[in-house]
Amino acid sequence: MSGLVIAVDGPAASGKSTLASRLAADLGLHFLDTGLIYRAVGARVLGEGGDPDDAADAQVAAEGLAETDLARPDLHTPEVSQAASKVAAHQDVRGVLLDYQRRFAAREPGAVLAGRDIGTVVCADARRKIFVTASVEERARRRFEELRRREAGVIYDTVLQDLRERDRRDQSRAVAPLKPAADAYVLDTTAMDTEMAFEAARAFVIGNT
Ligand code: C5P
Repeated sequence: MSGLVIAVDGPAASGKSTLASRLAADLGLHFLDTGLIYRAVGARVLGEGGDPDDAADAQVAAEGLAETDLARPDLHTPEVSQAASKVAAHQDVRGVLLDYQRRFAAREPGAVLAGRDIGTVVCADARRKIFVTASVEERARRRFEELRRREAGVIYDTVLQDLRERDRRDQSRAVAPLKPAADAYVLDTTAMDTEMAFEAARAFVIGNT
């Protein structure tokens, strides 16, 4: 029998990874940020001088993925973010990565997976599904503040444009587009801080267990 699986999906910079990792720690479950896998594939393609839009380049990178790639220091650069959402649009790339994610989800005593298609594809039978979202302006504001603490010269409009572009690509792709599962609890955090969002998510999970 498999354990408790919780799917946490949502658009870029919605805070879903932070929320999902806190839920996992709170409930004593494993945690996987699946965005890191796509980022690692994107980084590998760029590192090998390939084109993330090219299905063959992306597939070779996905097949060669190693655990150490998930710890690369460059996974959160704007270039890698864009490359990740490009490689993620290829059906074959998603197929290669599906198996790893499902094996992770099957770990006892259970797992929380954060991503875009966890509740709709990867773990469509997850016991609990949460779709975390917020307005694109608020997500850009949060990402901007986070980046500004780490580096100088960050421009809000550039961050906003980057998020809009990724939203568009993630929502309009033919395979596993970003959308809430029909049975997901939609958590709009536009007017919430991280504590309120966590409490709302936790109440949903506990209340339904
Ligand atoms: O979540 P994060 O922003 O780190 O993900 C980077 C990119 O990886 C996303 O823009 C999306 O295109 C892709 N992704 C995906 N499916 C997932 C997780 C991430 O397509 N389950």
